[in-house]
Amino acid sequence: MPSVYIKTYGCQMNERDSEAVAAQLLAKGYTLAPAEAGADVILLNTCSVRDAAEQKAIGKMQNIVAETRRARPGVVLGFLGCMAQSRGRQLIDQLPDVDLVLGTQKFHRAAEYLDDLLAGRRESVVDVGTEPGSEATIREHLAAGNTAAKSVSAFVSIMQGCNQHCTFCIVPFTRGEERSRTIPDILAECRELIDRGVREITLLGQIVTSYGKRELPAREGRSGFVQLLDAVHELPGLERIRFTSPHPKGYGDDLVEAYGRLPKLVPSAHIPLQSGSDRLLKLMHRGYTRERYLGIVEKLRRVRPDMGLTTDIIVGFPGETEADFADTLSLAREVEFDNAYIFKYSPRRDTPAADLPDQLPREVKEERNARLLALINEIGDRHYQRFVGRQTSILVEGPSRKNAARLMGRTPCNKIVVFDGSPRHLGQLMDVRVTRAGSFTLYGDPAIIALD
Ligand code: SAH
Ligand code: F3S
Repeated sequence: MPSVYIKTYGCQMNERDSEAVAAQLLAKGYTLAPAEAGADVILLNTCSVRDAAEQKAIGKMQNIVAETRRARPGVVLGFLGCMAQSRGRQLIDQLPDVDLVLGTQKFHRAAEYLDDLLAGRRESVVDVGTEPGSEATIREHLAAGNTAAKSVSAFVSIMQGCNQHCTFCIVPFTRGEERSRTIPDILAECRELIDRGVREITLLGQIVTSYGKRELPAREGRSGFVQLLDAVHELPGLERIRFTSPHPKGYGDDLVEAYGRLPKLVPSAHIPLQSGSDRLLKLMHRGYTRERYLGIVEKLRRVRPDMGLTTDIIVGFPGETEADFADTLSLAREVEFDNAYIFKYSPRRDTPAADLPDQLPREVKEERNARLLALINEIGDRHYQRFVGRQTSILVEGPSRKNAARLMGRTPCNKIVVFDGSPRHLGQLMDVRVTRAGSFTLYGDPAIIALD
């Protein structure tokens, strides 16, 4: 049976898409290869958010071609996902050894196309069309034996696409219009996962707070997204609910109030900020102001004082002045983010910001990136130190990434805790006492020593 190796670039949505493709291929009789060496099919699931991410995948494919094509001419090579969607056939023009280019609405057709390519029925396949109903096709999960760990925690895709059209962002072009799955369909997938031992579910989408905006009218003041949270919360056996990524404009009172009402909804949120300058937020078409963002944070912390907050920030947006950047620094200081992902602005094709005047030189972006990173690290250190000596509950996911002899779990506010545990802790919710804080990691001891 042919073996497949899939390498994933980019966000959690991409990780999830790759998992679903892998599970679909397994069901069709393919096997999963642990590395590209020896695999019959090599697929790169790509990211287009910044040019660097695209160049990385293209460079990787060039290496793969150089290493495998001559030695094993029958190997099938493919690009999947965002870059496949936005560049299409052009990728094969540039890299003629590539056999398959599969867009973001076509993941479920991977097996059919690979069968054809492997059997020699087709020379190459480019499929980047739109497909009605594709939002409901990312549903298969790998069984525990096929994944490294993570079987207590699973991701469920609830929607595809984004209509916000932030002026810097390529995602609305690569992922298409917002399309939501139905609540019963999502619940059925969640139930299956819980039956397999999953205790924590992360609801995924490019802009999850817009879930069901067209399909589900507000009920008793609750948006479609909050109605979904309510429904998932009802599922017996589920311990924790997370979601990513929301948009600040989706934090109405119904969502803030849900944090007080739904105990399974963990006190943790990743709320992309992008900039602390009102002038830039407007140029970015973000739809909120600095005050509104701060207001959301304040309300959330009033409901859940232990709220863990992370964010995305762009530095070097066209025309960003030193004063604009100072607004971002001061907002980061005011909010005290647990952590932030900082992105240097990268002009993307077909996006309005790419045509704005005053594109900033690389040095300015680098320098602001370094200053913001230093601040985020300083705030993060202070924040993590506060946990030392405290007891907290964690859901144990598996071996620590840095030291497989130790285990790791996550606090409700999404911080990683590494500790010496035993296999019986895997998948358990347990209490630990935090003994030390490192760089964005906590170290702990089981709080209660079992007397067995
Ligand atoms: N809502 C999606 C956003 C995807 S892009 C999600 O959270 O998954 C993820 C982040 O990449 C954005 O929040 C933004 O900070 C950053 N980003 C998007 N376009 C960018 C660009 N052109 N240059 C630099 N960073 C960008
Ligand atoms: Fe991109 Fe803005 Fe949507 S960042 S994914 S257009 S909310």
